[in-house]
Amino acid sequence: MTLAALNSPVDLDQSQLFIVGQQRLEGELHVNGAKNSALALMAASALSHEPVRLRNMPDLTDIGAMAKILVSLGMGFHLEGSSAVLRGGGLTSHDPSYDLTRKLRASFFLIGPLLARHGVAKVPLPGGCRIGSRPVREHNKGLQAMGARISMKDGVVSAEAQGNHGRLQGCSIHLDYPSVGATETLMMAATLAEGETVLNNAAQEPEVMDLAGLLKTMGARIQGAGSSTIRIAGVKQLHGADYAVIPDRIEAGTFLIAAAAARSRLHVTPVETSHLSAVLAKLEEMGCSISPQGQGLTITTPGQLRGCELRTQPFPGFPTDLQAPFMALLSTAEGDSFVTETVFENRLQHVAELQRMGAQIHTNGVNAAHVKGVPMLSGVPVTGTDLRAAAALVIAGLAADGVTQVGGLENLDRGYARLEERLQSVGARINRIDATQTAQTAQTALTGSLDLSYSSIPDPSQGACRNW
Ligand code: EPZ
Repeated sequence: MTLAALNSPVDLDQSQLFIVGQQRLEGELHVNGAKNSALALMAASALSHEPVRLRNMPDLTDIGAMAKILVSLGMGFHLEGSSAVLRGGGLTSHDPSYDLTRKLRASFFLIGPLLARHGVAKVPLPGGCRIGSRPVREHNKGLQAMGARISMKDGVVSAEAQGNHGRLQGCSIHLDYPSVGATETLMMAATLAEGETVLNNAAQEPEVMDLAGLLKTMGARIQGAGSSTIRIAGVKQLHGADYAVIPDRIEAGTFLIAAAAARSRLHVTPVETSHLSAVLAKLEEMGCSISPQGQGLTITTPGQLRGCELRTQPFPGFPTDLQAPFMALLSTAEGDSFVTETVFENRLQHVAELQRMGAQIHTNGVNAAHVKGVPMLSGVPVTGTDLRAAAALVIAGLAADGVTQVGGLENLDRGYARLEERLQSVGARINRIDATQTAQTAQTALTGSLDLSYSSIPDPSQGACRNW
């Protein structure tokens, strides 16, 4: 869609991002704290009656949702700049409401800390989502092995420790799948159990290592986090802590992929290189040059990129959360690329939206896609059906000819804080047109000079999370 072609009034039932593609990016993008670590660390703070300070917290709607759940259970929560202080001393309840938990799948992590702290927990099943059924079998199986009686009624999982004094009993657990959430849930539960727990076939993600880092700072005795075998020796209680969240490797990867899609040179910082090795290898295989600089990485992209093959796997394999963003990049790489999603059963929903932009992608209808690179995508209205699919469409919009209109921002804002403002700071022509504005404003923003001064629209930072 070209600027001039956009004559029909813009349908603005939701906020939308408007992106004028083909702009080179230049400069530096800062990476925030990791969403998928911060959520687990917040749950872990419920294990202690003493305050836990978490630094480098990301400003995201998911974090706000977790905060509301913890406060509803009696915990204290307040922000001090980018730090959050959580007070587990006030924890009185062990059954978060469905009205709160249904907004955040990660709320199910709380069953471990609540059971360990109180000997009882009643947590609503998170249910499936757009990318898959998201079972919690491994979580419940492990807790049962530790002596919890698990039952389910009306969509709520009830767990009760049967050990003496309502304590869980350490034991050896073998996970059928290296589930991140199950590993984190069981590791948290095991910190206060009687005796040693061994998690075999555990998830090795950096977020699991970060959680172990916080728990050890709180006095837990954990060995092997980051490997497939984690040993936890139970202690009687955990004390408070002051701990910094690791940089978000998925956000860092999203920025590097965006730079490659815009054929640009960009500095992304901070980045823990070992957290992204599979992604960096693929970007270099395609022809990008990536060099360490200070705490971050600088990516330089040639005019032409080669396609490649990728297969998502548990860490240290290629991360499933960057599969959609990477497919947006492959859509304009030269030649054939092949993508296989092995972690989630329904994580190709972004394909249809990329096809609307002119991408040549054929799938097996399940989990595999063949991408034939095209010279250019075309800007059209698209919708992000989940968090990472929305990020993929923003990336595609940066590379496309004309204006791309991206909806589904409630998904995007779950994992990326003020993304449009940050991309604008490195030269992207991108605007968030708020649903409260008239279609005329959007029309002017598009057919006129496309006012990209951020002052032209309300500051979204007042919207996304600040209503914690
Ligand atoms: C975490 O989800 C992340 N979320 C996800 O990030 C991430 O994609 C995922 O790990 C994999 O890395 C958070 O940390 C909050 P899993 P989680 O349990 O814990 C199967 C994002 O975009 N499985 O490792 O739910 C399951 O079906 C989100 O930021 C079982 O088979 O992931 C899935 O196919 C999306 N049995 C696979 O494992 C079980 O009992 C991965 O699930 C549990 C899971």
